[in-house]
Amino acid sequence: SQQETQVSLIMIFGATGDLAKRKLFPSLYHLYRKGKLTDQFAVVGVARRPWTNEEFVQHVKNSIENAVGCHEDIDDFASHFYYQPHDVSDTASYQQLKELASELDTKYRLEGNRIFYLAMAPEFFGTIAHHLKGEGLTDTAGFKRLVIEKPFGHDLPSAQELNESLRKAFKEDEIYRIDHYLGKQMVQNIEVIRFANALFEPLWNNRFISNIQVTSSEVLGVEERGRYYEKSGALRDMVQNHMLQMVALLAMEPPIKLTTDEIRSEKVKALRAMRQMEANEVPTYFVRGQYGSGVNGETKVVGYREEPNVDEQSNTETYVGGKILIDNFRWAGVPFYIRTGKRMAAKSTKIVVQFKDIPMNLYYGATKPLSPNLLVIHIQPDEGITLHLNAQRDGSSTETKPVKLSFANNSVDSMNTPEAYEKLLYDCMRGDATNFTHWDEVALSWAFVDKISEYWSSTPASFPNYEAGSMGPKQADELLSNDGFHWWPIDHLDVDKC
Ligand code: BG6
Repeated sequence: SQQETQVSLIMIFGATGDLAKRKLFPSLYHLYRKGKLTDQFAVVGVARRPWTNEEFVQHVKNSIENAVGCHEDIDDFASHFYYQPHDVSDTASYQQLKELASELDTKYRLEGNRIFYLAMAPEFFGTIAHHLKGEGLTDTAGFKRLVIEKPFGHDLPSAQELNESLRKAFKEDEIYRIDHYLGKQMVQNIEVIRFANALFEPLWNNRFISNIQVTSSEVLGVEERGRYYEKSGALRDMVQNHMLQMVALLAMEPPIKLTTDEIRSEKVKALRAMRQMEANEVPTYFVRGQYGSGVNGETKVVGYREEPNVDEQSNTETYVGGKILIDNFRWAGVPFYIRTGKRMAAKSTKIVVQFKDIPMNLYYGATKPLSPNLLVIHIQPDEGITLHLNAQRDGSSTETKPVKLSFANNSVDSMNTPEAYEKLLYDCMRGDATNFTHWDEVALSWAFVDKISEYWSSTPASFPNYEAGSMGPKQADELLSNDGFHWWPIDHLDVDKC
């Protein structure tokens, strides 16, 4: 939707934290510089530390200089920032916040519009929502929006509980659940590629597509997040949200209009069609891995079990490979393979749509198979699309060579290409919830993932089972080879630079 930014007070809970510093302040600054924020906005940083306004403003400016390396208009921008020390469970704290909010409402003519961004640990979400309502911070004439980060629960029952506690204070359409993959340019482009081209949609089904592969690999290990990751693992950290969201966008039916409700309801239908596994079927469809020691480029790195705050016997998976079947007319029989992991050979998110072989091979005297056509959507670090075709090998009328048609989104420039968070904040300020996850999507994704984690938690894993710097455990290759396929190697797929 094309509506403009609405005036608003933005309260960031957890404003002294990492997310605010690395993503939120720089994103707001970019929006400001592009003229996408009116002068009618104010940001209140809320956190435990007893900072003054001046200290906070300085912190905001430093964060932006580090992240953006630019400081034009920074004083004007930062003059919209305020700080309020806060204790999340103390009602008096909310009263002070309410007073400050209403002063700023008047000063900036914010019409009572409020965005509450909870950039902090989810165990506080329920308490904060409860007090925001209880102390009357949501009691204004304007809109109220609650923006929350993952994880949204750690299984379906805990997600339901969290949702119920939020729903006591906010309506479903006031809750903006962030999945930052939905803010990525090329993830948003999945719909455009499918629905703005005559070429693909007629082929986008089980008659012409043999399988779809979604990879999101990381080079980094668990870093400083051992404590969180031990409880989460790759399944909850990446599959329940980012990976299944990409699958839903690939599998959904065309929406009748590009409205939030229409798009979300198609995604929900796709998620609902994912085949549910019985516990004993989990090993047929899903493979888990954990990295051992290895090399990262030139550097030797330790295994997961040696990382800080990780149990020496940890059974937490740092890799998931899976095969998802979507039981509907369009997709019956087409496997969607997914894989994601830490400490892999490359940082890369890509989607490969592999088309079926042509009915008859006229080349090479039919002794050598033709390469299948592939449509590759490059999400990161390259952004673009490649289409793999066969063309005539020079000077030979009976042999072919693979060629790639490439579109590289080369405009990537740190000031003008919006990052995921910038897009999502902008959407939220315009009241467009399309690229946020609806509760129904969250619930269906948990129901699917819970089956896997229940099985895994009841069976021992033989970890570590892949070397740091590799592409994951060999069992994940078998998922595909059992079906006569293989993972397309990441480097084979590079976008040709124009
Ligand atoms: C986050 C996960 O949601 O996504 C991290 O918690 C992961 O563990 C990150 O590293 C990956 O995001 P991106 O944008 O770097 O692919």
